[in-house]
Amino acid sequence: MLKDRFNRIHDYLRISLTDSCNFRCSYCMPEETISCMPNDHLMQPQEIEAIARTFVCLGVRKIRLTGGEPLVRKGAGDIIRSLSQLPIELTLTTNGVLADQYIDLFKEAGIRSLNVSLDTLQEGKFFGLTRRDAFHKVWNNILLLMAEGFHVKLNVVVMKGVNEGEVNDFIALTKDLPLHVRFIEFMPFDGNRWQKGKVVPTAQLLARAEEAFSFIKLKDEKHATAKKYKVLNYQGTFAFITTMSAPFCGDCNRMRLTADGKLKNCLFGKDELNLLAALRQGEPLLPLIQKSLLIKAEKMGGQFENTYQQTDGASLQNRSMIRIGG
Ligand code: GTP
Ligand code: 5AD
Ligand code: SF4
Repeated sequence: MLKDRFNRIHDYLRISLTDSCNFRCSYCMPEETISCMPNDHLMQPQEIEAIARTFVCLGVRKIRLTGGEPLVRKGAGDIIRSLSQLPIELTLTTNGVLADQYIDLFKEAGIRSLNVSLDTLQEGKFFGLTRRDAFHKVWNNILLLMAEGFHVKLNVVVMKGVNEGEVNDFIALTKDLPLHVRFIEFMPFDGNRWQKGKVVPTAQLLARAEEAFSFIKLKDEKHATAKKYKVLNYQGTFAFITTMSAPFCGDCNRMRLTADGKLKNCLFGKDELNLLAALRQGEPLLPLIQKSLLIKAEKMGGQFENTYQQTDGASLQNRSMIRIGG
């Protein structure tokens, strides 16, 4: 069992398949074009499977594939297929633009739920955010995934002056669609020009939603990152991921594997242990995994003062989001 010093049991592994993406969202990647990892630095399919197997033996029960964009990884389909043989819940977070090409594979792999990023419902703003003219493709793929019976959670990173005004439009979507919208507080990562003034705290969004809808609080699942709500008689739900205004580290059950095979014990942690190098040298992974748990900070990678208001994003030591995977 993967227990840390604070008795948190880690049964959820997020595996990044690549640090490449077919979108260019500024909140995720530095503006200067970052070089993608060379192929031999990336975990190869058999290596991903071997590392994942080790974690499953140690009690991991859920694996989420991330990126960059996981579906642009060459051989993503084979990796998904091989991980689907493990006794886990397998799922992924995607920008959705390639999802239609993977429907059959998702079904074959037993994937039932996907998290799809979509920060705006306005075509022009979508282009401004992603630098790609793909709004309709993504939206149609979201509809397709739901029509094909997948549970779809929509990730909306809320940024002041960018899309905060669309919150009620997103909630309105949940009237006739079984869609689970999650508003995410904008978080600081290397190169994403985060400023505390760009964060819209959840309390403000809730107040806005209260002006337009009458809704109830739902019970949250164990270890959930999101606090869930539902407008009465609507099909879907909406939720808030309050990392900045109300961190939820006390209940953390996650570890992260970067595409180059480094183990991160926290989204904001600066410690990285090189599992891929150990695997390639024929060394055991367990001591590194145990060490990672032993040094895991109580909250926010040990890098934040009490609140994000006291944080200067620039002083955090971390990767860019595109090289972590969320
Ligand atoms: P599920 O709970 O499995 O649905 O996944 P998720 O919502 O955590 O994953 P997803 O990849 O959709 O990420 C949504 C947002 O939550 C992103 O902004 C992530 O960075 C953030 N997030 C995911 N895991 C953690 C975590 O352990 N801690 C914090 N603070 N944020 C997280
Ligand atoms: N702050 C909050 N969420 C982010 N994501 C990417 N960058 C950030 C950020 N700076 C989200 C994306 C994606 C998920 C993996 O992480 O919306 O859905
Ligand atoms: Fe876990 Fe770190 Fe996220 Fe807190 S910030 S919930 S410790 S991964």
